[in-house]
Amino acid sequence: MSTPAPLGKLRLGVNIDHVATVRNARGSAYPDPVRAAKLAEEAGADGITAHLREDRRHISDADIEALMEALTLPLNFEMAATDEMLAIALRHKPHAVCIVPERREERTTEGGLEVAREENRLAHFIAPLRDAGCRVSIFIAADAAQIEAAARIGAAVVELHTGAYCDAHAEGRLKERDAELERLREMSSFAHSLGLEVHAGHGLTYDTVSRVAAFPEVMELNIGHFLIGEAIFRGLVPAIEEMRRLMDEARA
Ligand code: PXP
Repeated sequence: MSTPAPLGKLRLGVNIDHVATVRNARGSAYPDPVRAAKLAEEAGADGITAHLREDRRHISDADIEALMEALTLPLNFEMAATDEMLAIALRHKPHAVCIVPERREERTTEGGLEVAREENRLAHFIAPLRDAGCRVSIFIAADAAQIEAAARIGAAVVELHTGAYCDAHAEGRLKERDAELERLREMSSFAHSLGLEVHAGHGLTYDTVSRVAAFPEVMELNIGHFLIGEAIFRGLVPAIEEMRRLMDEARA
């Protein structure tokens, strides 16, 4: 296992999937995810995240092509561990590939990818992505067995699922929220000690981001749904700028 990476600035990856959700609701050409990505860059995003789902319910193949062509920021391409997605990723060679679960049987109880039981298959699956120069990240629950498995298969990054923490906060289950937060804190530190770069995301809002942003081992947060929703009220650039400000404040 590799030595821990040095700690540093917390990056913000803006997930633009739900710009495409709104577009697809009407089958129109707008709003355009590429335009959103450009505005995200202006607002201080460090990367753009897009999930090409097997059912193409939001981002399309054409969106990925357009993003690869238009972006100056690195693209974090989220995908399921399928042969179809592997071929698409190898064609585009994005900066980063994040492997996420899509089907129920691929998930842990907390919703992250079930790596521990799929170690062999996933190790073979990510090898060509690593060879192609993509930074491979695995979206998992904050669970020691999953983190150890992610390290063993040769992932560079683990993205810890913050959904349970965010749901507990939103539903006022504060004891559970604090327990989830403590688990995220401990597991960020554990993953970092194994030489993995630590990211986090899912369900983060202005109310929940600061506590996670304060963990020194977390290097990147990927945030989408809340930001696209908030953009309806204050515009995309101010919505992202406020998230950036909260992250920087928590880090300081
Ligand atoms: N990280 C990963 C791996 C995800 O799959 C998602 C959701 O697509 C996010 C982060 C962002 O979650 P949200 O849209 O709830 O902010």
